[in-house]
Amino acid sequence: MKDFIDLRSDTVTKPTTQMRKAMAEAEVGDDVYGEDPTVNALQEKVAKLLGKEAAIFVASGTMANQLAIKAHTQPGDELIMEATSHPYNFEGGAIAAISGVQVYCLQGVRGILDASQIEAAIRPGDHHYAVTRLVCIENTHNRGAGSIYPLKTMEEIHKVAKSKGLMVHLDGARLWNACVATGINPHEYAHYADSVSLCISKGLGCPVGSLVAGSREFIDRVHRFRKMIGGGMRQVGILAAAGMYALDHHVVRLKEDHENAKRLAMGLQEIKGISIHTDHVETNIIIFGVAQTGMTSPTLRDAMKKEGVLMNALGSEQIRLVTHLDVTRQDIDNALAAFKKVILRT
Ligand SMILES: Cc1ncc(COP(=O)(O)O)c(C=O)c1O
Repeated sequence: MKDFIDLRSDTVTKPTTQMRKAMAEAEVGDDVYGEDPTVNALQEKVAKLLGKEAAIFVASGTMANQLAIKAHTQPGDELIMEATSHPYNFEGGAIAAISGVQVYCLQGVRGILDASQIEAAIRPGDHHYAVTRLVCIENTHNRGAGSIYPLKTMEEIHKVAKSKGLMVHLDGARLWNACVATGINPHEYAHYADSVSLCISKGLGCPVGSLVAGSREFIDRVHRFRKMIGGGMRQVGILAAAGMYALDHHVVRLKEDHENAKRLAMGLQEIKGISIHTDHVETNIIIFGVAQTGMTSPTLRDAMKKEGVLMNALGSEQIRLVTHLDVTRQDIDNALAAFKKVILRT
């Protein structure tokens, strides 16, 4: 019996015994000299999977996104992104601080934008305006409750961006979830982006790490900025080995996380007072409303913690739950029983 069923995020997973073994046995070298064979192998593998010339290992999803934005832009440029997107909201103001870039935020539908919105937001080539340089999209979309960008929409956005000379960055922290849910290959999504960031420390269950992929020339620039902010790591093959292991063993199983999320959502729907759209649960993230339960989301979160279930409150009326490698189907049923106990007092 675990102490807690932790549904706060898919970042809370702990490396499995087999993953730890792979890490312990990793061949390593000094990656700042480009001499870590395991890092090199992971970078090559990810570049190949995404159909890009090169990839680079970095410490986090935030670092991946922010280095990509930095490498695509000049201070004073503008980038277009959805208003609830991760790099804009949850990366400590880094776009302004690191790149000196301003953001044109657009309201999407569960985080998803369409090409016409983006086209309308591109600034005219007049000196009164900032230079629109970059479009950032997120697939799956965290605050969109794990929503998946339709490939067709990505294609249309890419077409508009290219027609205006813009670059496209894909925050693919959970791209594998989109791939497993749709059966679309990662390189098909990546085809519609100049750069892609990818996390191995979320659904894939690694302790640390993300990668950025793109053209060789672009990755070379990212490499320089990684050094500049102190992100050059040495015998980091120990971490890359976890990534290699996860790509081989933890991708297909994301399907279980999606099934568990659906099961959880279906169960929540039965509880009076919870407002949830079960058809919006496309991958491993669920966001639902609690206003009609008579509790605020922080009160519900705190009461559920006493029942051994951890979750995040979003504002005062919403809860976010995330399924992952360390959550079983039995945990889902136990969590549902706890929700009933707390909300219905049964
Ligand atoms: C969509 C998305 N992008 C980027 C990140 C940042 O990743 P990290 O926490 O590794 O910096 C997250 C984290 O949850 C995320 O959900």
